[in-house]
Amino acid sequence: MNKKSKKAARRPATKPARSASASGKLSKALASTAAFAAGVARETGGMLRDLASNVTPPQPNDAPMRATDVLVNQHRILEKLFERAESSKRGLDDTLRELADELSAHISIEEHLFYPAVRKLKPDLILEGLEEHAMGRFALQRVLGTKASDASLQARLKALKELMTNHHHEEERELFNVVRREMPNPVLEKLGAAMKKLFAEERERGHEAVLASFDDTLRKPVHGNAPKRRALISHAVARRAAAAPNRRR
Ligand SMILES: [Fe+2]
Ligand SMILES: [Fe+2]
Repeated sequence: MNKKSKKAARRPATKPARSASASGKLSKALASTAAFAAGVARETGGMLRDLASNVTPPQPNDAPMRATDVLVNQHRILEKLFERAESSKRGLDDTLRELADELSAHISIEEHLFYPAVRKLKPDLILEGLEEHAMGRFALQRVLGTKASDASLQARLKALKELMTNHHHEEERELFNVVRREMPNPVLEKLGAAMKKLFAEERERGHEAVLASFDDTLRKPVHGNAPKRRALISHAVARRAAAAPNRRR
């Protein structure tokens, strides 16, 4: 018998020994995988328990909230309403009405309570914010005055959304951080409570009444000699009026 034949003859005798060893290794691997899986499950369970303990439970409506948190919450609600108005035509009238009520009440509590309370911290930003509110009210009125069948509705809605979203982000980035740093929490919570109360009242009044209470016209001329300008305009109008009957003939 040559060497190869001898090896072949020995093979059946060694095979069971190697199988037993492989099976042992497999068992060990399975056992260690099971142990690893059990460990992962334990760790994941622990992590989930930790996460659950860190999540703030839902706050009751009358829980104290800082003024800045009240406003940030309203910004997020407005963003959702904009998304809903843009994404679906179903119930669009109701969505626009809700959006108008929310936005006008939000602007109202900022202008009547929040801005006056924080004005000294960022006077330039407050003036800019008031201008953006006025433009927002104008853009909102244009949306509300547009029929659902009008092709311009979505464009006007998009313009309003961009205007207000940029404004909200600027408030959060440049104003609210300063306010939180400079004003103590108890003061901000007291202001927040007053703002929540006025917001509920303004929501109840509805956007038509709230928007009507703002005076967005510039009563005084900002630059130049307005009386002269008005006189020129009146003269031009009078000239056109005088010429009009001739044109009709
Ligand atoms: Fe604002
Ligand atoms: Fe705001």
